[in-house]
Amino acid sequence: MQMDWAKGLIQPRTAVRESVKTLRELQSIYANQEALRSMDPRTVVYRVQAWCPVPEGTEGGLFWGTTVVEPGHVDSEYFMTHGHFHQKRNRTEYYTTVDGEGALILMDEARRTWMEPMAAGTLHFIPASVAHRVANTGKVPLRLVACWPSDAGHDYEAIRQSGFSARLLSVNGRVSLVGSGG
Ligand SMILES: [Fe+2]
Repeated sequence: MQMDWAKGLIQPRTAVRESVKTLRELQSIYANQEALRSMDPRTVVYRVQAWCPVPEGTEGGLFWGTTVVEPGHVDSEYFMTHGHFHQKRNRTEYYTTVDGEGALILMDEARRTWMEPMAAGTLHFIPASVAHRVANTGKVPLRLVACWPSDAGHDYEAIRQSGFSARLLSVNGRVSLVGSGG
């Protein structure tokens, strides 16, 4: 396998699982539904690659993945990933930024939300029991690499039901985490 660090992509693409998320699939995560209706639902928000050298659920294995989040926003809310807890809550993860600018948005089970700025070279440890999503706050694609345990699993449902307790918005041109925060 090869890591194309310029593009932040795994090669060959035929050996990885790839998925594309459009506004249509992500509509529930954005605050301003009216603004969303004025946008093309086919707009690509992000693409994911996952290299899974062992079966999903294997204890002791690791997966390697990439995510490319396109620049854009729905009203003042930046394009972002769906976000998830790990199904096994004690499983952790690394993210590192290849290119672009963004934010890693984190929320613990008490619904306290905080963020870490992302830029080329930033390295992020996602602790146990912490939901995570990334947003692109820049003008070019945000490219990141992730490594996580093969038995972590994804719990999207908790986020689908309750979301995060804060949203990453552009307020007077500044990146702002807005919400209850807890
Ligand atoms: Fe994760």
